[in-house]
Amino acid sequence: MKITLAKTSPLLQRDFVFGVATASFQIEGAADSREACIWDTFCATPGRIKDGSDGLVACDHVNRWRDDIELIAALGVDAYRFSIAWGRVIRADGSINQAGLDFYIQLLDALKARNIKAFVTLYHWDLPQYLQDEGGWLNRATADKFARYADVVSRAFGDRVYSYATLNEPFCSAYLGYEAGIHAPGVQNRQQGRQVAHHLLLAHGLAMQVLQRNAPQALNGIVLNFSPCHPASNSAADIRAADMADQYHNQWYIQPLLEGCYPDLLTQLPVAEQPQITAGDMAIIARPLDFIGVNYYTRTVYRANSKGWFSDVPPTAPPLTDMGWEIYPQGLTEVLLAMHRRYNLPPVYITENGAAMPDSLLHNQVADAERVSYFQQHLQATEAAITAGMRIDGYFAWSLMDNFEWAEGYAKRFGIVYVDYATQQRTLKTSAIALRELFAGRQK
Ligand code: FCB
Repeated sequence: MKITLAKTSPLLQRDFVFGVATASFQIEGAADSREACIWDTFCATPGRIKDGSDGLVACDHVNRWRDDIELIAALGVDAYRFSIAWGRVIRADGSINQAGLDFYIQLLDALKARNIKAFVTLYHWDLPQYLQDEGGWLNRATADKFARYADVVSRAFGDRVYSYATLNEPFCSAYLGYEAGIHAPGVQNRQQGRQVAHHLLLAHGLAMQVLQRNAPQALNGIVLNFSPCHPASNSAADIRAADMADQYHNQWYIQPLLEGCYPDLLTQLPVAEQPQITAGDMAIIARPLDFIGVNYYTRTVYRANSKGWFSDVPPTAPPLTDMGWEIYPQGLTEVLLAMHRRYNLPPVYITENGAAMPDSLLHNQVADAERVSYFQQHLQATEAAITAGMRIDGYFAWSLMDNFEWAEGYAKRFGIVYVDYATQQRTLKTSAIALRELFAGRQK
């Protein structure tokens, strides 16, 4: 099975960056050499994780990182996107864990030796539990702590990092963690969700200042997730509901960053549910970005509900991934071009895109034809946005390997590399081989 793009495709040009992505809590394991985080606590709470699993061992990446780097290099990628576990770097008493920093430094050096660009994410959801105990992202002081953490990391890493993202998908930390309650810390409270979103954006802005000072050579920015919001019907109420959902889930994060204000929908929230914003915050949030990372998986359909708000309508018709998410590649072009038309954007990277499929290992092979086709379609969707005039500098497949898929545990497999959790054996799936061939076929 092949992934084919036209010879003249902008994706095959010299400067376009192809990579694979992971996140600390999802792969690292070695929980005893870091502080506990909110996901450890969440996993230890019965009923929170579908298969009752946790991140204590995960892919045991902290012990197997050398082999994993070889695996990444063998794919022929230009870049590797991974995240730093805050609690592996800063202890509960505020002291620096040098062994934790050294772990990442050797990883960075190994990437550099192989000419692989390091895309480092500072926060991919694993807030140290010691900070949660002081209020977590509801506590404004956490934003200052984040800036200090960014300072410690960016000083220690020196010029080894090609790109820093402050946050991964603040939507998930705020909405899934504090409104839907399906991610750590599992709260259901709209005011808290909006406040957390604000503190996260503030943390981002404060950390941007630090990164631009300590790592001016790096591309510094943020990673957001987008899903086009479509109305369930042509009724005015559903169309309005979809627009509200777009403001609440998509624009809520990008608009403050690029325009220094929240969407108008904010004023429609009861005052008691609006975030508290201190004078000067929006200017901090809206500091210039070197890039925006876009994570895309699927579209979402909404209908108006009886509360004058929006409810999502889960997809039922195929094609669906193993997550139950609709395969909707044109949605990627749609969100990209909508951003491109509306905002004055910095360069964009697709920092995550991929699919969970019910993979099985048979005779040392994983024939994941549906994932190959998912990549094929979404690469073409990326290409379409570039052809329409948008600047997109790279694409990262989610994920390098199967890993801990948050509330779904290990049952959902997003990797292009299969992980047998009993033996920790890694096996390239057909999709990894197809991507490797695509990368190798480029004129570099
Ligand atoms: C994104 C997350 C990533 C992974 C994928 C499937 O929202 O950033 O960690 O779980 O979804």
